[in-house]
Amino acid sequence: MFESGMERGISRQPISRVKIRAMILKPATRIRGKLTLPGDKSISHRAAIIAAISQGTSRLTNYSTSADCAATLSCLQQLGVPVDRRGPEILIQGQGLSGLRQPAGALDCANSGTTMRLLAGVLASQDFDSALTGDESLRGRPMQRIIEPLKMMGAQISSNSGRAPLTIEGRQSLNAIDYELLVASAQVKSCVLLAGLKVAGTTRIIENEITRDHTERMLNLFGAAIETGNAEREPRGARFASVTGPARLRGCDVSIPGDISSAAYFVTAASLLSGSVLEVLGVGINPTRALILMQLRALGFNVEVQDAHEVSNEPTGAIAVRGAANSEPPAASQPFTITGSLIPQLIDELPLLAVVGSQVGGGIEIRGASELRVKESDRIATTVRNLRAMGATVQEFEDGLSVAGKVKLHGASIEPRGDHRIAMAFTVAALLAEGETEIRDADCVAVSFPEFFELLDSIVER
Ligand code: S3P
Repeated sequence: MFESGMERGISRQPISRVKIRAMILKPATRIRGKLTLPGDKSISHRAAIIAAISQGTSRLTNYSTSADCAATLSCLQQLGVPVDRRGPEILIQGQGLSGLRQPAGALDCANSGTTMRLLAGVLASQDFDSALTGDESLRGRPMQRIIEPLKMMGAQISSNSGRAPLTIEGRQSLNAIDYELLVASAQVKSCVLLAGLKVAGTTRIIENEITRDHTERMLNLFGAAIETGNAEREPRGARFASVTGPARLRGCDVSIPGDISSAAYFVTAASLLSGSVLEVLGVGINPTRALILMQLRALGFNVEVQDAHEVSNEPTGAIAVRGAANSEPPAASQPFTITGSLIPQLIDELPLLAVVGSQVGGGIEIRGASELRVKESDRIATTVRNLRAMGATVQEFEDGLSVAGKVKLHGASIEPRGDHRIAMAFTVAALLAEGETEIRDADCVAVSFPEFFELLDSIVER
């Protein structure tokens, strides 16, 4: 299957985090094909969690195949929620807002920050004690950002100096709060909204920078009294999301669109390789997630959205790409700068955009992105180190990086530090490089996209 130059070196066990043989990649000439992708990871987490606390059965179609979303399902099962996989569908028997059961032990969120932060919101208002833990990477990530608002609501949470494991004491009731996000994080926003579901009254979040709004959309689909809009305050552009509880959530059929963050690797590779023609069908194009497409267009690439429509409250469409020969990016002398309010909407695509920076005249500068330092790896450090290993000229800042373009990358040994997005971004770099590239610990892609190498192999031409 990988005769076109890729050696298949990854295990097919999605949650396995055992380090195994690296993936060896050769350069590509172009990308050709038509794909549909597994369901969006962020939307899948929310669909499963909200289904679990609703009344009645929910049917989730095209649930994410990621190890992260498997961790969410496993935690829900330990909370007494029946989960039945039927081929591409998952049936979840909702237990209602007060029907979860105390788990026998600590809930293992594996590598998944979304699982931990969203479940903490649900568990904070349950009347039983619980604990949340995860792998070494997750146990190193900041949790004070959710502990603080949950404590303001009256939750009792202890942690390891603001990190997991988290221990949550059972509470009969919490109180509603107005809370302004200190970090632009959809996970924090979602945690507080989920905690607000059982509270009598209105829990309101204000965000100064737009973050993904999948929780708001999913809660709305399941019947919660949720409102969103412009916050009438400074700075302009601030938004609010509020939920009024106690909510009455009813089970739903949810059709989950393909994951745009997964699509981004193929769309970008096709943009950069001349002669490429690629279509990705049925992808989520929620405006709070689709900024990567706008950025590629702003860089001069030929990326279009077709057939836009809504499915289960989420905008969905096809992405059509023609490679660089059809749309030569403009030769710029200044770096293309990505900063400010754009950062939260591109947060998972920034390592990939850094790779793109090495391929466009003027390069790319990313600033105001210190959040990247507390992702699955320190994504500023891992991106800088690996880009330099491939011959790019990169400057590292505390809050970002600057990559000079346009350079011919060369093959190197890439160390993703267990970070799926770094492994996939540098696979794209490998397709453009001279010589062979080794992606070490390549199985880490399963955290979000187990089929990544197989699907890539089906569209890449050498
Ligand atoms: C996610 C939000 C983002 C993103 C993560 C998934 C979500 O994290 O990086 O991969 O599903 O809410 P933050 O909200 O912490 O920035």
